[in-house]
Amino acid sequence: MSGSSSNNQRILVGVSGGIAAYKAIVLVRRMIDAGCEVRVVMTEAATRFVTPLTFQAVSGHPVRTTLLDAEAESGMDHIALARWAQRVVIAPASADLMARLAAGMADDLLTTLCLATEAPVQLAPAMNRQMWAHPATQANYARLLERGVTMLGPDAGSQACGETGTGRMMEPEAIADALLTGEGAGDMAGLEAVVTAGGTREPIDPVRFLANRSSGRMGFALAAEVARRGARVTLVAGPSTLATPAGVRRVDVETAAQMQAAIESIESMDLFIGAAAVADYRVARPAEQKLKKNGASLSLELLPNPDIIATVAQRGPRPFVIGFAAETERLAEHAAAKRQAKGMDMICANEVGAGRGFDTPDNALLLLWQDGERVLPRAAKTQLATQILDTYLQIKQDSSHASR
Ligand code: PMT
Repeated sequence: MSGSSSNNQRILVGVSGGIAAYKAIVLVRRMIDAGCEVRVVMTEAATRFVTPLTFQAVSGHPVRTTLLDAEAESGMDHIALARWAQRVVIAPASADLMARLAAGMADDLLTTLCLATEAPVQLAPAMNRQMWAHPATQANYARLLERGVTMLGPDAGSQACGETGTGRMMEPEAIADALLTGEGAGDMAGLEAVVTAGGTREPIDPVRFLANRSSGRMGFALAAEVARRGARVTLVAGPSTLATPAGVRRVDVETAAQMQAAIESIESMDLFIGAAAVADYRVARPAEQKLKKNGASLSLELLPNPDIIATVAQRGPRPFVIGFAAETERLAEHAAAKRQAKGMDMICANEVGAGRGFDTPDNALLLLWQDGERVLPRAAKTQLATQILDTYLQIKQDSSHASR
């Protein structure tokens, strides 16, 4: 585990009402073992699942449960507690808690602290799969993400209610790992990064679209690794069934135009990684009604889409731009030309087609940048993500030495 700089963090752990509350005990224990100072705040409902005394014993500090507690407020009052925290982590975050936070309510100590703190707020949602999938919860989730709250999970799997699906709280060890190595803690701490992933869909009519075989694995692996190394990451993803990596803000899009708009709305970025397979063309006039088969041939007029990565590379101030080249022939030659044409700092070239590159768990890459190249032999995409970012950091380091 890297990121030991985070080990003296002051962490406020919020516990809301859900069966996963007992797992927060392990989380608190892990954070303390790693050298963090932890204060626990429980909602009323959480105290029905685990007693405050348990968290007091594990954290070594009295546990706060109510806002209007004259005795506690005469010590460290709630505003002081909100200022004390360097991070607020709520595990488990129930559907009710997410709804109250999304509505900006301050009807108990925990929600009040979330409004009063300047520290980053992270939630580990935990609830029944239907509750998680409910449009109200999804709208609350999206609203919280928009406001800069980061999400740790939820995971998919068997649930306490006996059902199977998405909604399980991330395991406490994984949450602790994300907190100790995530945003603000690794060798990319302080950076703002944007990663694109997956393919776009360009509508033909209300039910048909032009698409490609990208699964999003490469981009999601990069986003996970950038977050693990401490950067603040926004993942702009085309349709994908993959789970959002821990600590990553995710914006879901469908078309290239939506992807471009999502990226344009991000004001500042230090690093941009374009792993998405963005459609080069869109249908000029998507039909409003489902196209009928009439036996005759059908032509679709296609218009070129804007080149997202080339636009990002022209920004001022400009982020470091890493792109990909998906090629079926003359890999190095085409990738080098693509890097120049789109103004990328580094390009990751891959041979695609015939079962390679797209929708596979592994890949092989050729990295090209102005002063060098590196061959990455076939490996899991998670491992390639680490190697790409190691190379990026090395290039940055070399260029800062050269400019001294
Ligand atoms: O998602 P996976 O299943 O894991 O597969 C990974 C991958 C094969 C999709 C990935 O490794 C990859 O190659 N991504 C880029 C695919 C692609 O669109 O390549 P390209 O050579 O057509 O585009 C070059 C670069 O321009 C890419 O960084 C692309 O994101 C970008 N681009 C392309 C078109 C466009 N309109 N805007 C862009 O920004």
